[in-house]
Amino acid sequence: MIFSKIIGVGSYLPKKLLTNKDLEKSLDTTDEWITSRTGIKERHIASPEEQTSDLAFEAARNAINNASINTEEIDLIIVATTTPDKIFPSTACNVQTKLGIRNCPAFDIQAVCSGFIYGLSIADKFIKTNSAKNILVIGADSMSKITDYTDRSNAILWGDGAGAVVLSASKKQGILSTHIHADGQYEELLHVPKRNVGNKIQQTIEMQGSQVFKIAVNTLDKIVDEALIANQLQKEDIDWLVPHQANIRILEATAKKLEMSMDKVIVTIDRHGNTSAASIPLALDDGIQSGKIKSGHLLLMEAFGGGFTWGSALIRY
Ligand code: ACO
Repeated sequence: MIFSKIIGVGSYLPKKLLTNKDLEKSLDTTDEWITSRTGIKERHIASPEEQTSDLAFEAARNAINNASINTEEIDLIIVATTTPDKIFPSTACNVQTKLGIRNCPAFDIQAVCSGFIYGLSIADKFIKTNSAKNILVIGADSMSKITDYTDRSNAILWGDGAGAVVLSASKKQGILSTHIHADGQYEELLHVPKRNVGNKIQQTIEMQGSQVFKIAVNTLDKIVDEALIANQLQKEDIDWLVPHQANIRILEATAKKLEMSMDKVIVTIDRHGNTSAASIPLALDDGIQSGKIKSGHLLLMEAFGGGFTWGSALIRY
């Protein structure tokens, strides 16, 4: 039996920081409101020259180094992103070029904040069907490029970054299960429509935040049950919750459902904001670098986002 296991993790954050205090200068908001309603204190912002593939490339290079494999051994690249460099070619193809690899398949997937879980789920199946041996799964987003910085309900949330894992064929079990879902009927609650503003087409995030919040919390409850039942595990078996970082209050609600103390939740929202597809691999790397997540630990990753899409991955690290 072939299993897929994470053998390398890496991440990258752009240098520029945007703090709540910075936002106070241009928006009718306060550090106190942002912190208490979202848990966010600051977020990293890509420079105008930095593309999503640049962030993804840095994260990928770190993950490959961490895996101690040669770049040429990568035989599939999957990039989860909502903010591709261009409509085409895919950001995955741009990352492939930047890594100096040729010929391996490379493609993007679009599942907004659940993109990394979708990517893991697809990669796991490639490995289990013996179609690939070393897969780069990258979550990368430059949400600042689709944010309206005059909209206070939105501008405060988003950040830029990338995280990557090398998922490899193994005799040892790594990914125990993945579950992915979608329901397109809520499109209007969270989307990036094309609007004609003057002579220009504007494409920025529009979100009915409080409605999304309620659906996210209820859905995440169900995800937790689904993952545990499928693996015949109990809540207390989980060492770390590595959640998508949308709002600290959503994280607290999921931890409560798991009867888990917040000490067992990897939290980066205070420093990263919501980096969409990048947030889970960024949190994973943060948890490993800080010495919290260790080899053998059982991790529950979960996400909810635009689409709506949602999903989980249960992983023995
Ligand atoms: N500063 C001060 N006041 C603000 C701000 C701000 N930055 N933003 C909104 N307000 C005001 C509103 O105008 C409103 O005022 P009113 O009562 O006078 O009308 C009040 O604060 C409450 O607004 P709500 O939108 O109800 O605030 P809420 O507590 O719901 O917080 C937030 C908003 C943070 C967006 C929250 O709803 C949220 O996190 N939603 C879920 C986000 C999410 O999970 N998205 C999915 C993943 S992301 C993806 O897939 C791309």
